[in-house]
Formats: sequence, C-alpha cells, structure tokens
Amino acid sequence: MSALKILVIPGSLRTGSLNARLAATIAAELAVAGADVTRISLADFPLPIYDGDLQAKSGVPKPAINLKRMMSAHQGVLIVTPEHNSSVPALLKNAIDWVSRVHELHEARGQVFRDRAFAIAAASGNRLGGTRALAALRLILSACQAPVIPGQLALSFANEAYDDMDRLKHPADIEALKALVRQLIDFSQRMM
Ligand SMILES: Cc1cc2nc3c(=O)[nH]c(=O)nc-3n(C[C@H](O)[C@H](O)[C@H](O)COP(=O)(O)O)c2cc1C
Repeated sequence: MSALKILVIPGSLRTGSLNARLAATIAAELAVAGADVTRISLADFPLPIYDGDLQAKSGVPKPAINLKRMMSAHQGVLIVTPEHNSSVPALLKNAIDWVSRVHELHEARGQVFRDRAFAIAAASGNRLGGTRALAALRLILSACQAPVIPGQLALSFANEAYDDMDRLKHPADIEALKALVRQLIDFSQRMM
C-alpha cells in the first residue's frame, strides 16, 4: 500500500513564525510515523480578499484552485493556526473561503473538505496556546462539513516550548503531539 499523504498548512507567513515552527515539528513526527508529508506556505497561493463581484467577473483565482487541488492530492490535512483577536487570521480564513468556492467539473463544490481527515493545531506566546483560534477553526471547518479529528494541539508559551535541539521539551506537549499524529493517521487511513 502506498504511504498515506498528509498536507501541512501553517496559517502564518511571518519570518520566525511560531506556527510554522510547530507545523514543521508535527510534519517531522508525521514522517516518523510513516506518512508522506507535504508542507506548504500560503505565500505560494496568493489570494485577494474574497469579493463576490470579483468571483462573478473573473471566477475563482487560480491559486485557490491550486490550493484545492493540493488538498485533493492528500488524504489528510493539518492546519496550524495563529490566534488573532481570539480567532483565525484573515490569511487562513480567506484561503478557506476561496477554496470553498472552487467548483470543479467532476465534483460538488466543497467536496474537498468532506472527503479527507482534518487536524488542527495552534501555537501562541501565552498560556492559552491559541485555543480560541482552534475553536473558531473547528467551527469554520465544520461549516464546510470537514471531518475534523477530536484531538487538537494548543502549544502554550510556544517561544519557550523547545529545547536546544529544536524539540518540544515538555512531556505534556510531546504527548499531545504524538496523540494528534496517531489520530490524524488513523482517521486519514479510514478516508483512503
Ligand atoms: C492582530 C493580532 C491579534 C492577536 N491576537 C491574539 C489573540 O487573540 N490571542 C493570542 O494568543 N495571541 C494573539 N496575537 C499574538 C499572536 O498569537 C502571535 O503574534 C503569534 O506569534 C502569531 O503567530 P506566528 O508566530 O505563527 O506568526 C495576536 C497578534 C496579532 C498580530
């Protein structure tokens, strides 16, 4: 059987992003567990702010179609989101909004969200670890009818969570990471 394909999407473009770092950590753990992991940057899928007039005039922009096809090529999708004002950043919400408008000939609109397993994680510099962004992201993905795994990883004090070898240093974080990876692989396999 070919390896399970998992797409990892960090929700930040910032240099030194805590969420890009966490995305890399989870991607590495997924690879150790045998998954074939693709980690992307939303910088490679530049999108205007969603505007229905723009869509009516020019259709869904090509980067949204490319992102949707990238998701379609994987059995599982992990999104690692920053928390902005208790919710997901506009970058991520906008990408999801555009992808939800992609309508390919051979499938229903939004099918890409329904046909694969999703996992969510967040990193922030405070104690809550982005849990409010995770709640918002779970709601958004649920509205898209995406199967989101029950587990999630909220990395608190993310700027102090790593050792000198760039590994998570707190046992609770390591256990949450491993549990998330196990659950995502398990759910993604069932979607194959
Ligand atoms: C507009 C804005 C709003 C923010 N709101 C929150 C918030 O509600 N909760 C929180 O924990 N951090 C908040 N932060 C801090 C971010 O979580 C922090 O900058 C984090 O490092 C961003 O993720 P990144 O490092 O992956 O870019 C906010 C940052 C910005 C720029």
